[in-house]
Amino acid sequence: MGNLLTTAFLAIVTFAHWVAPSPDLSKSYAPIYVDCPPNINWIRSSSIGLSLDEALWVQGRKQVVLDAFSSYLERLTPDAFDVGEYTRRLKQSNYSDVPTLGLAISGGGWASAFTGTGALRALDSRLDAAVEQRTGGLLQSLTYISGLSGGGFPTVSFSTSNFPTADEIVDQWRPEIDRLSDDTNNTDYTASSSSMFADLTAKFKAGFQVSPSDYFGRAWGYEFVPGARGGLNVTFSSIVNLSNFRDYQMPFPILQLADINKNDVEYFGFQIPSVNTTIYDITPFEFGAWSGSVNAFTPTEWLGTRLQNGSTVNASACVRGFDRASYIMGSSAGAINMWYIENLSNGTLAPFAKRSYTKRQNSGSAVPQAELEDLVTAFQEYFGENKSSMAYANYPNPFSGLSSSSSSVRDLADLELVDGSESGQTIPLWGQIQPPRGLDLVIAWDSSQDGHPYNWNNGTSLYNTYLAANASGLPFPVIPPASTMINRNYSTRPVFFGCNTTLTTTQNTQMPGPIVLYLANAPYSAYTNFSYGQTTTSREQMSEIFVNSFNQITQGNGTLDKEWTTCLGCAAIDRSLARIGMQRTDQCERCMSRHCWDGKYDNRKPGVIDPTLLLEPGLGFLEWNKTHPF
Ligand SMILES: *[C@@H]1O[C@H](CO)[C@@H](O)[C@H](O)[C@H]1NC(C)=O
Ligand SMILES: *[C@@H]1O[C@H](CO)[C@@H](O)[C@H](O)[C@H]1NC(C)=O
Ligand SMILES: *[C@@H]1O[C@H](CO)[C@@H](O)[C@H](O)[C@H]1NC(C)=O
Ligand SMILES: *[C@@H]1O[C@H](CO)[C@@H](O)[C@H](O)[C@H]1NC(C)=O
Ligand SMILES: *[C@@H]1O[C@H](CO)[C@@H](O)[C@H](O)[C@H]1NC(C)=O
Ligand SMILES: *[C@@H]1O[C@H](CO)[C@@H](O)[C@H](O)[C@H]1NC(C)=O
Ligand SMILES: *[C@@H]1O[C@H](CO)[C@@H](O)[C@H](O)[C@H]1NC(C)=O
Ligand SMILES: *[C@@H]1O[C@H](CO)[C@@H](O)[C@H](O)[C@H]1NC(C)=O
Ligand SMILES: *[C@@H]1O[C@H](CO)[C@@H](O)[C@H](O)[C@H]1NC(C)=O
Ligand SMILES: *[C@@H]1O[C@H](CO)[C@@H](O)[C@H](O)[C@H]1NC(C)=O
Ligand SMILES: *[C@@H]1O[C@H](CO)[C@@H](O)[C@H](O)[C@H]1NC(C)=O
Ligand SMILES: *[C@@H]1O[C@H](CO)[C@@H](O)[C@H](O)[C@H]1NC(C)=O
Repeated sequence: MGNLLTTAFLAIVTFAHWVAPSPDLSKSYAPIYVDCPPNINWIRSSSIGLSLDEALWVQGRKQVVLDAFSSYLERLTPDAFDVGEYTRRLKQSNYSDVPTLGLAISGGGWASAFTGTGALRALDSRLDAAVEQRTGGLLQSLTYISGLSGGGFPTVSFSTSNFPTADEIVDQWRPEIDRLSDDTNNTDYTASSSSMFADLTAKFKAGFQVSPSDYFGRAWGYEFVPGARGGLNVTFSSIVNLSNFRDYQMPFPILQLADINKNDVEYFGFQIPSVNTTIYDITPFEFGAWSGSVNAFTPTEWLGTRLQNGSTVNASACVRGFDRASYIMGSSAGAINMWYIENLSNGTLAPFAKRSYTKRQNSGSAVPQAELEDLVTAFQEYFGENKSSMAYANYPNPFSGLSSSSSSVRDLADLELVDGSESGQTIPLWGQIQPPRGLDLVIAWDSSQDGHPYNWNNGTSLYNTYLAANASGLPFPVIPPASTMINRNYSTRPVFFGCNTTLTTTQNTQMPGPIVLYLANAPYSAYTNFSYGQTTTSREQMSEIFVNSFNQITQGNGTLDKEWTTCLGCAAIDRSLARIGMQRTDQCERCMSRHCWDGKYDNRKPGVIDPTLLLEPGLGFLEWNKTHPF
């Protein structure tokens, strides 16, 4: 990041060149004020279920999914399962019984962004090798994809880029460039920090508070959002205009964020969310929360607009362009408060499941304290913001004055949002497990790096979602704590939860909630536990990451388990069978008994998670590292 104070001085100079907000979002980062449109439903209650827009979109998507899913199932050639009959019955249901499948990519910086993208790639029917291994086509069968923090990078990137293939998107990303080093010139791929500060200044002068989430969003935009100036004109709501969204050719993206409120505990001048933080959900259509203190949604396109009790405060001051994709992505991954506290407490204050403080095989913080101090000082000096306001992403509160909001939200002028992983639920499942979305299977990619000290994963993020779902009465699989996860090797091998409805929170056979496939990033052919804060990645490393995830998704192209890919298909159809009056086949029964958690706990104190390559067990990290210098 370099010396941001110097940078901020440069930004002062740049203020002179600041241009007034233009109605063209590609000219300035400042949101623009317009006359409010008539007939907008500013607030809708979460109790009505899905918004009409989303419900209609999902209907359209299901028809596309059914074609992709049938072909995928045919390639699996499952024993004694009549794919033709299955397809016919789903069609007969007017597509409503077509399984709703989702992928959720955890927080964990670039490590999760790239390993998760590798998983997505291994499910893509546009990749010949994935079709050959018979995992390809599941991506085309997904209705939802969700991300938070580092998992938000690919979620935002694929959806704002009209969903290219993983190999195409890497060329767009140019991951070898470090967007956070400020000695770069402005190019199509990166910007100096003074130019990014100038962007922020335009927003600030238009009357909006700015924060490091804007700054990081701008920087990461040059990597993950397509188009000029770090995707400057791209809003999250503009995804609705992309051809593959309109034609239902991509999954529906959801980003997850957490919030801070005044009762939250404070360390070193920064607050962190309580375990009961409200989890916000943002889609191209809507922003809001299903539960907690909000229970309502507002249109994403008009975020930034001041509302009071569900009406506009000033009918000539509606806001457009607040929801820049880069800002939403920066907000979902903005964890200044956590990074700062983590550094000053030497990693001891980490009350939630979260990524390891240590770098792979080394100790040391992932975000150096000196850089954080510079950033805090720069925001204090140039935007006059104190620590307790600059650390969080600021959103004019659309839920202000609503009687349905709890007082902690109703009385707030602005929401203060933080990295979704600060909820302790680092895998973005919350949006996907809301009953109105009706998920049947969620593939949970975990690279949250909470398995200390080597940055593998111990399942605590998933366990935390189980605790939260159980407390709120949402149907969700029962998940065992980390000791069982580690002792039963779920840190390295795929496992399904909730196959048997007796092992769900509500035990409701009519509304069982989804089966969850837990996939923890693990070393199959490469050590992919590099630090979440690794800001550059060579193409060579990217290729190893992709092959590693491919090997994980395909279980070494079947070498570790010949029947695995079919078992994955069994899990994808399982919940739908009862709805259309079909039975699990013997083969699927066998799969379920082999790959589903059976409800048995192993609470012995687990050892450290330090596996060697699953496909080459003799090759330890130190030896491998000699020939893999990244
Ligand atoms: C099927 O759904 C469509 C909307 O997607 C609706 O127009 C049609 O009437 C439905 N058909 C039946 C038989 O329910
Ligand atoms: C930035 O541009 C200047 C002038 O073109 C050039 O001399 C310098 O090497 C560039 N710096 C970097 C880091 O690319
Ligand atoms: C952003 O600008 C580019 C180039 O001017 C244009 O092609 C694209 O459609 C714009 N995107 C949005 C979301 O307005
Ligand atoms: C979609 O495109 C239309 C036509 O360009 C534009 O009027 C509308 O504002 C766009 N919608 C969003 C959400 O950006
Ligand atoms: C969170 O909410 C649960 C259920 O409402 C409550 O029992 C618990 O005390 C709360 N925890 C905190 C830390 O506020
Ligand atoms: C908020 O609006 C609702 C209906 O739109 C109304 O019933 C209620 O009285 C309003 N509350 C306040 C505090 O104005
Ligand atoms: C309403 O917004 C317009 C446009 O931004 C502004 O000119 C006007 O002063 C505002 N009115 C009030 C009462 O704040
Ligand atoms: C963190 O470690 C440093 C250096 O060892 C020490 O000076 C400091 O007191 C420690 N802080 C805390 C909160 O333990
Ligand atoms: C698992 O991760 C959590 C969250 O980081 C941590 O608190 C816990 O100590 C870890 N447990 C084990 C058994 O590794
Ligand atoms: C589910 O678990 C219950 C209780 O352990 C058992 O009786 C039942 O046979 C199981 N159902 C299936 C389909 O495996
Ligand atoms: C599996 O196939 C992929 C794609 O062809 C390849 O890159 C990988 O090395 C193979 N893995 C094994 C264990 O053979
Ligand atoms: C791994 O290799 C790199 C050089 O390629 C070296 O800097 C690093 O110290 C090595 N890591 C360990 C733990 O030996």
